[in-house]
Amino acid sequence: MNILDFQAKKQKNEKITMLTCYDYSFARIIDDSPVDAILVGDSAAMVMHGHSTTLNIDIDTMAFHTEAVVRGAPRKLVIADLPFLSYRKDLASNVEAAGRLMKAGAQALKLEGAVGNLELVHHLVQSGIPIMGHLGLTPQSIHQLGGFKVQGREDRAASLLKEHAQQLQEAGCFSLVLECVPSSVAASIAKSLSIPVIGIGAGSQVDGQVLVLQDMLGMNPGFKPKFLRTYMNAFETLKSAFTDYHQSVVSGDFPNEKESYS
Ligand code: KIV
Repeated sequence: MNILDFQAKKQKNEKITMLTCYDYSFARIIDDSPVDAILVGDSAAMVMHGHSTTLNIDIDTMAFHTEAVVRGAPRKLVIADLPFLSYRKDLASNVEAAGRLMKAGAQALKLEGAVGNLELVHHLVQSGIPIMGHLGLTPQSIHQLGGFKVQGREDRAASLLKEHAQQLQEAGCFSLVLECVPSSVAASIAKSLSIPVIGIGAGSQVDGQVLVLQDMLGMNPGFKPKFLRTYMNAFETLKSAFTDYHQSVVSGDFPNEKESYS
């Protein structure tokens, strides 16, 4: 899958599916599934490294996760997040950060917000780097937004979101993530754009969905935002496997003779 296939799905009115992923083992499973694309999200800071926000991850760590995912999922479109502040410096440093993730194997990059990023988006796209925008709840601005809250509820905020989405499309973004936005606002933005809009907490009337892998697998039992559907209870399932392993060892059942070398 490449960005053209990704965009063709919108034209054909086919829904796009994307999951985050940060490591080789999960990437192999996703690669063997029909899911269209993988986002090496900066949510890695939270789900892989235990931080409370996405601010605590740097470009080297993002490159490290990206390399592992690309090795595991050669058939998927792999998009990597430019981490907090890595694209808010001078042009040369911003381009260097983008180059680092592309050289790690990403086929496209994602960055958050429109204000102050349009020229950079244009420059990166002109330099051959496909860019996905991200509007609505932009976790890198969590302190500015005052927490993880739905965005674009008021008319003024909704029309500003629409304006920013249009600007990102004009700057050359091949796609846009809309996070935690009322469904009606997201639907209207998706309808007004020619590029695919991928929602998370943005309702069903967008061109596709993305979820954080560990969240949709139910690995994070305390985390239950309204938009999240869990497709398995991995926390309990894995805990039960670990418990079975422990018990089989302490009881002397594992390893048995077949599991031992003569
Ligand atoms: O980092 C991430 O996981 C994301 C998704 C929530 C879209 O940006």
